[in-house]
Amino acid sequence: MNASDTSLIKTLRQRFVDHFGHQDADIAVFFAPGRVNLIGEYTDFTGGLVFPCAINQGTFLLIRKTGNHQYRFLSTNFDQVATLEQNKLFEPGENTWVNYPLGVLEQFSQRGCVLDGFDFLYSGNVPNGAGLSSSASIEVVTAFAMNTLLQTDLANSEIARIAQRAENEFVGMQCGIMDQFAVAMGKAGHALQLNCNTLEYRHVPLNLTDLVIVIGNTNQRRELNDSAYNQRVLECEKALEILAPLLGITSLGQLTPEQLNQHEAAFHGHPVALGRARHICEENARVMAAVSALEAGDIGQFGKLMNASHDSLRDLFEVSSEPLNQLVNLAREQPGVLGSRLTGAGFGGCTVSILPGTAVADFTKHVGSRYKQATGLDADFYVVEASDGVKQVHGIAS
Ligand code: GLA
Repeated sequence: MNASDTSLIKTLRQRFVDHFGHQDADIAVFFAPGRVNLIGEYTDFTGGLVFPCAINQGTFLLIRKTGNHQYRFLSTNFDQVATLEQNKLFEPGENTWVNYPLGVLEQFSQRGCVLDGFDFLYSGNVPNGAGLSSSASIEVVTAFAMNTLLQTDLANSEIARIAQRAENEFVGMQCGIMDQFAVAMGKAGHALQLNCNTLEYRHVPLNLTDLVIVIGNTNQRRELNDSAYNQRVLECEKALEILAPLLGITSLGQLTPEQLNQHEAAFHGHPVALGRARHICEENARVMAAVSALEAGDIGQFGKLMNASHDSLRDLFEVSSEPLNQLVNLAREQPGVLGSRLTGAGFGGCTVSILPGTAVADFTKHVGSRYKQATGLDADFYVVEASDGVKQVHGIAS
């Protein structure tokens, strides 16, 4: 699936017409990718550095403005459908994907936009809850569509902020900006170096020559749980509370490994916060080193930094899992693999590895069968390409 999949778009248009009963001509079509984070994990909400790229898997949204004060939601990926009236629109449902678009609509409503009623059909191929930002993909495609249909004229970076706020405020996950920013701002053939404090960013060419990015899905039912994630947010806040009076920093992202070494004693009685802070400052240093290595054409070094990132997420930040560690370790044993790490929020979900394109077939065969032996689980593998961010695919009456 990608934004130019015309036969899929045609099928989805038919589905929309069959379900909602409109004229095909009234439907607008949008597409937002998922993302893979190459390095810089769990640094975003501390104002640190990240290095993700948008991928060639994503979510289509077909939408029509109805003006009838009703909001109807349908997805080819989830069973739940919803029909909501204007006066009940902003009440989160329990465990439903519809909360993602609703949170976005609420953001537009808070900005004073008159919404008036829409029909929505979503269809995506980003695996859910696997660390590839299926939720950000839904949020951003919704925000981009609203921006277009309501003519609010917002820049894509602001669309990313709206999508993040929807997740923070409506869904209740205290995520940072990385996922929504990557999905909104991705560029084909490039990764995105983002400072999550200032939102300064740079598209860095992903010159991988004969190497490819392979995602390994552990297919471990992800136990994340917003609560484990939100707990990490609190632990980082604790670390900042300890360090701020000593260093005058206003976010943990400003901390250097040297400063942390100097002030380790201040963490007496708070070993967990110390581990979290160490991961954050070392991970930020790794992002800078990794981008430099990439720009110097030294992918070997980039891969070593990916490995170090995983080890830190496993040991210091404690967001890995047994299946993730297995998949990473087996990947690293494969000939030609330059680096492998968990990607996204962890607790299950996906790994990302870099290896020669010619080694992919052996990689998936051997890693897949050994992983099955070790865990009893079937892994899935996807070779992905760095892709463009959110876009409109077909205009109204196209
Ligand atoms: C999730 C969150 C992001 C980021 C990653 C971890 O994907 O949505 O904001 O914190 O986890 O790097």
